[in-house]
Amino acid sequence: MSKKIASARITTESSELLKELNNSLPFDKELYKEDIEGSKAHAYMLMKQGIISKEDYEKIHDGLNRVFEEIETGKFPLDGDDEDIHMAVERRLTEIIGDAGKRLHTARSRNDQVATDFRLYVQKRNREISSLLLSLIDSFLNRAKEHSGTLLPGMTHLQHAQPINFGYHMVAYASMFRRDYERFTDSHKRNNLSPLGCAALAGTPHPIDREITSKMLGFDSVTLNCLDTVSDRDFALEILFNIATMMMHISRLSEELILWSTSEFGFVRLSDKHATGSSIMPQKKNPDIPELLRGKTGRTYGNLMSLLTVMKALPLAYNKDTQEDKEGVFDSVKTAILSLKVLKEMIDEMEVNVEAMQRACNKGHLSATDLADYLVQKSGLAFRDAYHIVGNVVNFAEKLGKDISELTDDELRSVDERIDEGALEVLNNRRSMNARSSEGGCATERTLEQIESMQRWLDSVRAKEA
Ligand code: ARG
Repeated sequence: MSKKIASARITTESSELLKELNNSLPFDKELYKEDIEGSKAHAYMLMKQGIISKEDYEKIHDGLNRVFEEIETGKFPLDGDDEDIHMAVERRLTEIIGDAGKRLHTARSRNDQVATDFRLYVQKRNREISSLLLSLIDSFLNRAKEHSGTLLPGMTHLQHAQPINFGYHMVAYASMFRRDYERFTDSHKRNNLSPLGCAALAGTPHPIDREITSKMLGFDSVTLNCLDTVSDRDFALEILFNIATMMMHISRLSEELILWSTSEFGFVRLSDKHATGSSIMPQKKNPDIPELLRGKTGRTYGNLMSLLTVMKALPLAYNKDTQEDKEGVFDSVKTAILSLKVLKEMIDEMEVNVEAMQRACNKGHLSATDLADYLVQKSGLAFRDAYHIVGNVVNFAEKLGKDISELTDDELRSVDERIDEGALEVLNNRRSMNARSSEGGCATERTLEQIESMQRWLDSVRAKEA
């Protein structure tokens, strides 16, 4: 039983309640790959440094491979009484290879071991999420390329504001996810340092070489100060923050997809694959997937707040509170990966209703600002005066039940004689969209530029990753 490879000092069997509270195996078994990887590197280093014999090293190495296989095949099910994944692997190893197994923990503590395992896990998932982000950005760019000429009412306060195009809207999301990508890769760089060899808190008297294990495990280098390292969970907080921010972006988009797929908007039709029916109303097609993505954002915020709170009052160095770091990260990582995959599929497969978007542009007097700008440019009016004239035009149109783009020349002039015949032209929505050709603006030509710039960035990042 678990009595007690980790304790020389404690002689009585632990209470069942203590085990329930204390044992992390039920969740940290998720780290078995990283734990075995870390142990193999550690054993190799011990052998290289003459701390254990070559013979013991070989036994440990082969034994760890066997433990790995037993876990993968379910022969060693990781559901026992062991305190955590580290104790479970060491126990099984020692059962298989005997005394040599007991030498593995030389010059190591579970404190640097868990920091190493968890960092390896976070770094791997960081990579996985980053690459999913790149393929999501690719999907946005594809939709943007198809729709850089598709008129869409641009909104502020969720009210019709100015005409833009749907491609431009897609590039806005691509930009958000690009910043997310950059946050993940930046965190990866900052945290790619090996904790292994820090031992309990202060290093070890054994003649270890931390660079050996660091290299074997794919870290860039080793951490500077052991006291900090064994209790530092910034890397976990960073991935939680990065995921929370990314989910916030996913949630904003989900909100739009939900609105856009209502019969009021009708801008997009989600594939039947991504919608569900109602158990009672036969006509319904519900956007459950974007709703779930929006809903799942909540738990990723919770996971971030939870670990920030766990960490806030911890004295140096390791404290058991830190064991609470894992479940939230596992949960956020799973949520992020699944959400990214589903979202990509949804964006690729949604039908865009070009006519509905265009029709919606004829409501809400979208080109009102253009008329004001025209009056400024044409008649030298102060913008504020022009603004008031156009306000009168809008009121007039509302009384007639028309959009200002539908007013005739005579009607326009009846509001204010300073409006001349050129005005009719600027009230055209497509012209209005294309007139916003300042840098970063929505004109089709500018949108295409943005797509191209983003595509160049994407290609260069991918080339580097390959
Ligand atoms: N299961 C522990 C954790 O996840 C491992 C480290 C335990 N260290 C200790 N000194 N009790 O944090």
